[in-house]
Parts: sequence; C-alpha cells; structure tokens
Amino acid sequence: EKGGYEHFMLKEIYEQPSAILDTFRGRLLSNEAIIKMVGVEDNMKKFLNANRIIIVACGTSWHAGLVAEYIFEDLARIPVEVEYASEFRYRNPIINENDVVIAISQSGETADTLAAIKLAKSKGAFVFGVCNVVGSSIARETHAGAYTHAGPEIGVASTKAFTTQITVLTLIALRLARAKGTISSSDYRMHLLELELIPEKVKTALESDAYVKTVAAIYKDAKNFLYLGRGYNFPVALEGALKLKEISYIHAEGYPAAEMKHGPIALIDENMPIVVIATKKGHYEKVVSNIQEIKSRSGKIIGIVTVGDEQVKNLADHVIEVPETIESLTPLLTTIPLQLLSYHIALMLGKNVDQPRNLAKAVTVE
Ligand code: M6R
Repeated sequence: EKGGYEHFMLKEIYEQPSAILDTFRGRLLSNEAIIKMVGVEDNMKKFLNANRIIIVACGTSWHAGLVAEYIFEDLARIPVEVEYASEFRYRNPIINENDVVIAISQSGETADTLAAIKLAKSKGAFVFGVCNVVGSSIARETHAGAYTHAGPEIGVASTKAFTTQITVLTLIALRLARAKGTISSSDYRMHLLELELIPEKVKTALESDAYVKTVAAIYKDAKNFLYLGRGYNFPVALEGALKLKEISYIHAEGYPAAEMKHGPIALIDENMPIVVIATKKGHYEKVVSNIQEIKSRSGKIIGIVTVGDEQVKNLADHVIEVPETIESLTPLLTTIPLQLLSYHIALMLGKNVDQPRNLAKAVTVE
C-alpha cells in the first residue's frame, strides 16, 4: 500500500509529479489555449462580478490560499482576503451576495472550514470548494467546486494536497484573468506552457533528496528553525515551518524575509539554521541582502535556489537547487525540498512520520 516507500509521507511527496498532472489533465488544453473547469464556467458571472474573493481554510490549505492570493491578485486583478476559517466564523464578518468565498480543504471534513462555509452561505455569498476527498462534507456543502484529484493522502503532514491545491487555484486564476482580459494572450499561453512543464520539474526537484538528507543530518538536533521567503514564496516559508513542527516537534517559524529585521533577527546566532527561499524570479536581490544580514550574525543558511545560482552559493552554508520557472509557479518547486527536509529530520529523530502525536488527519472538532 505504501508502494515500496517506507512511509506514506514519502510516497505522497514522490507522487507529486503525477498528482499535479492528474490535477490539470483534461482541464488545461494548451494546444487550444483553453482552461476547462465546469464549476468555474457554470458560475463565471459570479466570479467576474465579485467585489472580492475571500479564501477560508486551515493549516496547509490556508497556506495554499495565501499563494492563491498572490496569483489571483497578480493575474486576475481581483482583491483577495485569506482567512483562517476558525477566525472568520467567529468575528461577525462583513460578507454579502457580492462576495465569492473559496473554501480549501484536503479532507473536506475540517469542522471550522465547514462552519465558515455555512456562515458565508447564510449571508448570501457564493461558495466554491477546492477539496481532495470526493463526496466529502465540504464538497457537498459548497455551491460548486473543483477537486484536486491528488489521490488519497494518508500521511498526516499534507504534501501533495498542497501542490495540487495550488495547481487548481492557478488554473482558476488564469481562467478568470483570461475572461477579464487582465492577462495578454501571449502571457496566458506562456503560463499554460510553463504549468505543463511543472510535473517534470518537480521530478527534477525531487532529485535533491539525497543532498537534503545530508543537510537534515547536520541540523537535526537544532532546537529552532527559521524559514524565510518573499512574495509567492512567503507562504512556502510558512508551510516549510509547519511541516517541520508537526512531524519533528522542532520549533520553527516562517517569516516574510524582510520582516526579519523587525524582530526575529534577534534570535540569530551560530546555532540557528535558517532556510531561505531565494529563487532567481522574485525579489532575488532583496533576499540576497537578507542572507548577508544573516551571515554577518553567524546564522546557518540553507538556501533554496534556482539551478545554476552563484550569488547565494557564495554566501550560504548549503544550497538546494530547484529548476527555473516563472515566479507564480515557483512555490510548486520550492516546497519540495522543504517537505523532504522535514521528513528526513523527523525520521532521524525517530518520530512517527505518518502519525505525529496529538494530530489527526482531519480535524473534525473545532
Ligand atoms: O483537510 P484540510 O485541508 O481541511 O486540513 C487542514 C489542516 O488541518 C491541515 O492542512 C493540517 O494543517 C495538516 N496536518 C498540515 O500538514
């Protein structure tokens, strides 16, 4: 059942090339430059007339929502708010029939997300679901939706659900951008072609596994980790930190790289490993200067870089390469080594990778 892998988590990490392919199969028709998603087409008016999109989710799905915020605003120019479902439902939110709510949930059973959907519906909003489990409560409770088609995710730490959620949300953003005319046809085609290349590139990113394992061996006894990223990769930093926390029980925090100097920089010394996402596309020079600031305080730098990078290589203690892609798709690649890093550290510490303590796969209580 684990397909020859030692753990479900590792199997699911390695399934990502095919899971992402399954997510866009039949939906992304690059020859015709068409994106076909029934749930979106049937409700196009609602999406196009929306004053804003509110995304509600928890945990990793919330991180996917944050990535989607950048994509929707960047490409489709629709204002987006991303909310923890648990906060949204209890703060008397201002919401009406001109709002579109997107609920993201792997299991489709998360209690807070389900309650947030019911609240939004009661206020007249149109609610769209992005779920993995077919026929789940959230899939049934939403007005329409799009499945991720990632296949069963058994490991408590979410991996392929995250990358396939981002894939679905990217398709939706591109479709809306095309309908709104906020993207040129050449830019649109370029995005489709790049998205099609992602499964192969994820495969290449997975080739860093052996090297990531050596990095894991060096830092497995650290008491704290910091993860930094900017723009599209800020949510990836949050996700990397969550992965490490939940399966290795090492304290980790994700931060926008530029926020470091507003507080967390005080934590940095020679005992602090800092994972910095520093891909070529997206504020590269700014992140390089953040790396210099870390270095001058003797922090240990693990850089996630674009293949062939020289500048970060000269500064960092370790660099892990991912293939080049357009900025909006970098999260699909930069996430991979962070998943592997947490996996290897947890394993080396003798933790139960697939079923970490105190955690359930679906949080069905609030
Ligand atoms: O099934 P859902 O996507 O609604 O679950 C949301 C969170 O409970 C989930 O992502 C959790 O944070 C994971 N264990 C993270 O790896």
